[in-house]
Amino acid sequence: MTEVVSLPLTAWKDTIDAGVQAQGLAALERGNVLAFPGLRFEVDEQERDLLNPRVGGKSKNISLSPQGDALKGVEGDEARARQMQAMVGRFADCADTLVRNLLAPYAGALQRARTSFRPEEIAGRQSSWRKDDTRLHVDNFPSSPTRGKRILRVFANINPQGEPRCWRLGEPFEQLAERYATALPKPFWGSATVLNALGITKAPRSAYDHYMLHLHDRMKADLAYQQSAPQSVWQFAAGTVWMVFTDEVSHAATRGKCALEQTFLLPVEAMQDIERAPLRVLERLMARKLA
Ligand code: SIN
Ligand code: FE
Repeated sequence: MTEVVSLPLTAWKDTIDAGVQAQGLAALERGNVLAFPGLRFEVDEQERDLLNPRVGGKSKNISLSPQGDALKGVEGDEARARQMQAMVGRFADCADTLVRNLLAPYAGALQRARTSFRPEEIAGRQSSWRKDDTRLHVDNFPSSPTRGKRILRVFANINPQGEPRCWRLGEPFEQLAERYATALPKPFWGSATVLNALGITKAPRSAYDHYMLHLHDRMKADLAYQQSAPQSVWQFAAGTVWMVFTDEVSHAATRGKCALEQTFLLPVEAMQDIERAPLRVLERLMARKLA
């Protein structure tokens, strides 16, 4: 089962003991969540005002590009947008420092992607089944194909009322893939080129992206699976930080508001144990190259 492995860091810039680095990287690659109960993302007094679901207006998330220049989704005046940008940008830098320090062998290959602030309460939120992240799923980006690259995400729960962020964690990827792989539809010939030409995707989807998208949808649409799948409940305490390969670890966020999240992409070749990559697992099951 997916486990949550706690590591004893207390500062984003800690010089990390080689033993802890090795333990962290191995646990992450084996499909576990790394939790940092002693790490805090400090929100200063003036920023407290931002921790309010209305700050996002109609959009679910506020997001910052990796270049740090395009904050999307903030409601309100210029000063508030600047303040938001500063907070989200500071988190992006903290997360970047953490992953490069802790996961030192990845440092040269890691690509920083978007940062998001998720102010809204998850429980009771209305959304389509496909966007409903309270259902177990693995992540992928429908419009930004990764062609097998890993999706690594760092989260911080900055809930101002001190409430935890609640997740469900599901079965290991290999088991999940075995359950669904043969039932996933094959891509139509030429569909990746057409989707790309129409601007629906930013690059052509590989077969890997196609199957990961269908796996995500199959899991979410399967209500019997949602109930009966092997799973455990986990609460990430307010103030704390965690990271996980969300393309591999089956997860669902069921309750909580005000989290920060930083996404990184990692080429599979940078992994210590490349055979654990979802790309490789699917390629073994389907007996062909997918990206
Ligand atoms: C998700 O990736 O499914 C949502 C995680 C979260 O916002 O806590
Ligand atoms: Fe997700």
